[in-house]
Amino acid sequence: MEKIVINGGKPLNGEIEIGGMKNGALPIIFASILVTNGVSVLENLPAVKDIDLSLEIIESLGAKVERIDRHTARIDATSVKVAEPPASLVRKMRASYYLLGAELGRFGEAVVQYPGGCDFGGRPIDRHIKGFETLGATVTETFSESGKCVRAVTEDGVVGANIFFDDVSVGATINVMLAAATAKGLTIIENAAREPHIVDLANFLNTCGAKVMGAGTPTIKITGVDKNELHGCTYTVVPDMIEAGTYMVAAAATGGKVLIKNVIPKHLEATSTKLAEMGVKIVENDDSVEVSVPSELTATNIKTLPYPGIPTDMQPQFCVLMCVAQGVSKLIEGVFDNRFQYVDQLRNMGASIEVNGRVATISGGSPLYGASVNASDLRAGAAMVIAGLAAQGKTEIENINYINRGYEDIVEKLLAVGADISLVNIED
Ligand code: UD1
Repeated sequence: MEKIVINGGKPLNGEIEIGGMKNGALPIIFASILVTNGVSVLENLPAVKDIDLSLEIIESLGAKVERIDRHTARIDATSVKVAEPPASLVRKMRASYYLLGAELGRFGEAVVQYPGGCDFGGRPIDRHIKGFETLGATVTETFSESGKCVRAVTEDGVVGANIFFDDVSVGATINVMLAAATAKGLTIIENAAREPHIVDLANFLNTCGAKVMGAGTPTIKITGVDKNELHGCTYTVVPDMIEAGTYMVAAAATGGKVLIKNVIPKHLEATSTKLAEMGVKIVENDDSVEVSVPSELTATNIKTLPYPGIPTDMQPQFCVLMCVAQGVSKLIEGVFDNRFQYVDQLRNMGASIEVNGRVATISGGSPLYGASVNASDLRAGAAMVIAGLAAQGKTEIENINYINRGYEDIVEKLLAVGADISLVNIED
């Protein structure tokens, strides 16, 4: 086991290249199960644990997966069968529930154990189930040797329908898109999530011959095509806006100047706007943004929301920035019930943060001091890295498996911009 050790207080300077979007690549990997006519070649996959896991999951169902290089996989899904995947893999990540939508679309039935992933309070899947039921599936909970499973069965395949989501859900929108791509007839999703990875999935499916329109707006229309019409293609996953946003905040928190390369600036608008409000200078280029800090950082208020709002996956990182900015900031979590579990770790570093339900009040401007902390989930782990970079003295971060789930080469990327950061064996 390893931990990350940071000697903080050094401004980051230089360039960081952003990889493919984890949360975009995951549904596309599961969508490749729908492709029976030819192979899918997926490019710009981030080299992170969740991608390895999802490729292992589809392999366990019979897909032939060839890793062409670190960021490219060739997937032949012809021999995939409906089967319960190994629970040990499924329970390691949330996105394994995309198997439900993909298998339902291809076979008219699916069975998957309840998914794992970061714990932000209860993470129900009722909207996914409602979506599948509206498409004609009977969904039940079953129990097997590997624990509680969700089973969805149709009589004769999925049938298109109108689905209205009371609240926006990224995962449920994706799962319905997967199930509906080869359904009989038209599916209309109202109050759909609008995240860039929804658009990326639609683009992948359409490149394979599906008919998905309106992705990126609240209304997505999917005209089901014949299963044999979905053909293989080569597809490049879009850049990761959360990885980019994380390094933007890291540059700002250390008072550095960093060019973040290979991004789609439009996807970063909410993050850039809030950073600018706090005194950070952002220069947008075609496919890069430059972040620098010309003057003192000041407090602001943020409420996380579904896209195009500030992503909840940027909430812990902004919390750290608010700790180093002068004044009192309010940070409201608008998506999850319980996403402030990491705050105690920042308090150990000297941060002054009050949490009341979904609202954190941060009295910023006092120095952070290095401490031993834990990555309590993926983005909280990234926030601990930022806090360590901004803090005076030495920070040791344990439980870094979470960070490796979503950040490719985080230590190497930060070393290249001047951070004093290393990976150390815990035994040492
Ligand atoms: C995805 C992302 C995650 C991100 C989140 C919000 C992946 C693998 N994960 O998670 O990083 O933080 O979007 O941008 O892409 N909810 C229900 N019932 C449901 C589904 C969701 O009540 O059936 C609730 C959730 O508990 C949460 C809210 O709806 O409070 C939004 O969740 P959702 O958008 O579904 O997040 P995920 O797809 O799980």
